[in-house]
Amino acid sequence: VNDMGTDLTKVLVTQEEIQAKIEEIAAEIDREYEGKDLLLVGVLKGAVMVMADLARALHSPVKMDWMAVSSYGSGTQSSGVVRILKDLDTDIAGKHVLVVEDIIDSGLTLSWLLSNLSSRGPASLRVATLLRKPEAAKVDIDVQHVGFDIPNEFVVGYGLDYAERYRNLPFIGTLAEHVYA
Ligand code: PRP
Ligand code: MN
Ligand code: MG
Repeated sequence: VNDMGTDLTKVLVTQEEIQAKIEEIAAEIDREYEGKDLLLVGVLKGAVMVMADLARALHSPVKMDWMAVSSYGSGTQSSGVVRILKDLDTDIAGKHVLVVEDIIDSGLTLSWLLSNLSSRGPASLRVATLLRKPEAAKVDIDVQHVGFDIPNEFVVGYGLDYAERYRNLPFIGTLAEHVYA
């Protein structure tokens, strides 16, 4: 596939499948927010690719802002204790906010983020994610737009990293065990 090919066992979602799904989600969002001002909130860094493609697939004008959060605690596992590394530049009180994520894994990051954002009094607060791992869910989150439900495997690409690598793959791939063992 490319120079990172030997680190992957398979391509889980192709570039074409991602783009087709993003077009679908964009059409849903266009309908849902017709006549409303929408603020897309991308969660750095994983969501950069989804944000860039989703925003360009929309026909409605939107604003874009970014948050960077870090969940820390026990090693590689998300602890649900989240720290804001970069907050929004804008006040979201009274605004229609759509959080854009690359993946919902345990759901702990998003769960914390949603309660944080909802305390700021947005007019509405919804979520679009490209990927979700139903088997890994530790909390139940109401998500309005899901691209693909995927198995509980270590996936990288299209924004998703392992130790900051592989984010620039244009597809979603499953990481070979030898890489992280
Ligand atoms: C990843 C991913 C989600 C979150 C999902 O971000 O981009 O934001 O983890 O995990 P969870 O549902 O188990 O909380 P990460 O913290 O790795 O930061 P990154 O986006 O900068 O890679
Ligand atoms: Mn992330
Ligand atoms: Mg990461």
